[in-house]
Amino acid sequence: MKHFAVIGNPIAHSLSPIMHQAAIQDLQLDAIYTRKKLSKESFDREIRDLLLSDLDGFNVTIPFKERILPYLDEVDSFAKKCGAVNTVVRRQNKWIGYNTDGRGFLEGLTEKRPLKDSDHVLIIGAGGASKGIYLALKEAYNGEVTVANRTLSKAEEMLEQRSKDRAITLTEAANKLSQFTIIIQTTAVGLNPENSDLPLALDLLSPGTLVSDIIYNPFETHFLQEAKKRGAITQNGLAMFVNQGALAFKLWTGENPNRAVMRQAVLDSFEEE
Ligand code: ATR
Repeated sequence: MKHFAVIGNPIAHSLSPIMHQAAIQDLQLDAIYTRKKLSKESFDREIRDLLLSDLDGFNVTIPFKERILPYLDEVDSFAKKCGAVNTVVRRQNKWIGYNTDGRGFLEGLTEKRPLKDSDHVLIIGAGGASKGIYLALKEAYNGEVTVANRTLSKAEEMLEQRSKDRAITLTEAANKLSQFTIIIQTTAVGLNPENSDLPLALDLLSPGTLVSDIIYNPFETHFLQEAKKRGAITQNGLAMFVNQGALAFKLWTGENPNRAVMRQAVLDSFEEE
């Protein structure tokens, strides 16, 4: 039996086990997917033990996506550019790191509508998630990307050198919001449903803009609610979550899992809460 897992801290509320178990069952594979909490303080010892165990592959989530890199035998070039790994595969007894977050996001976005080179994309935020999405966009699309961040220097550092892309402040982005046809929200601002702050004001949003938030819990952030009120086409982070998982699943098993089955398993678990 193959054994897959997700490691992180905290990990109790991760929906990855439910989602991957659904895919395993659907394909009738002889496999299991579990969760493992690793200690932040003893990460060095615990990750070494894990790599000596019988695992066949695992996902890595917060806060270990960067810390895992030096323990792996190889890191693929895209994950290296991201500086972060979310998927680890055992191949011929070597541990190889990948990052499926950005490409998973992009798959989800293009399920909504295909990208056009005339699109003008705004990414809000310049953290780890933003970087993966930015790099995946750069692989797939020739148009312009603008990154807006509270700390401008972090957005500047993220951009590829010699590209025509731009780094701007959140205020500047709000002031020219009508120029963008796709807006991707990657900051943590919407994570707390009690807090109705927006990362930036949406007054100048054009109706018909595609607005995507990588958060799916809460299911619809204040940011998406406000965007919808202003006539945007909106998408939450569930598509990214499902697609990053499906890409990881393919790396481990070689099989293309049924994304609709994975998505439904996550939705069902929300309803049970
Ligand atoms: P992740 O890996 O999830 O992207 P991260 O690397 O900690 O997380 O990045 C968090 C992002 O959210 C950053 O862009 C951060 O802005 P700064 O670079 O200025 O810190 C952004 N962010 C967090 N809280 C914010 C807030 N209250 N207002 C605006 N941006 C915020």
